[in-house]
Amino acid sequence: MPEYTDLITRDNIQRRVNTNQSMLEIISNLRADHTNIAKLLQQLSAQAALLAKGEYINYQLLAEIMQYFINYPDIHHHPCEEQIFKLLRNRLPETGGTIDKITAEHNQIAKNGARILDDVKQIQGNAIFSRMDLSALLHAYIEAYKTHIETEERQLFQRAEQSLTPADWQEIVQAIKTCEDPLFGNALVGEYQSLYKSIMAQAVTENPVQ
Ligand SMILES: [Fe+2]
Ligand SMILES: [Fe+2]
Repeated sequence: MPEYTDLITRDNIQRRVNTNQSMLEIISNLRADHTNIAKLLQQLSAQAALLAKGEYINYQLLAEIMQYFINYPDIHHHPCEEQIFKLLRNRLPETGGTIDKITAEHNQIAKNGARILDDVKQIQGNAIFSRMDLSALLHAYIEAYKTHIETEERQLFQRAEQSLTPADWQEIVQAIKTCEDPLFGNALVGEYQSLYKSIMAQAVTENPVQ
């Protein structure tokens, strides 16, 4: 198997490009985030399935995935979307209902993610827990997140691209805080080492070197 470091330049992981403050880059970064989130949800799903079957699961990996969700999408991806959706609502009031739902889901995703991470940490500290309860929590989190992303991609991103003006995008750029993705960005933050290796291993499985 090749060294993980050899794979860093491969195209099998979406990387955030440096945000250069244009509509195309902002939306393209958000779509890349979705691809990355989907990869992590896949890993989470595999762990949840093992948990439900009573098999060994990697709690460290689980904790790192949840930590990433809390540290990056909850804090940067979702607020960035909310800035866009706020202006989209002004331009297309008919999107208001979907935007209200999506915004409530951002709060719910953050709340449920924090709850799961807390449970996993307690388990790592030898707390007694129900495997089925944790598996059910994970399953609900994963399915809700997938539906959420699908709604954004199908109902909101394209409308934002078509309806927001250059002045709107300028306002969005000024409002959002740009931030380097700590896992998929140019520099890997140390606390995600295990997770990064696992993602690379997954990429090798999906794209075997000939
Ligand atoms: Fe979102
Ligand atoms: Fe999103």
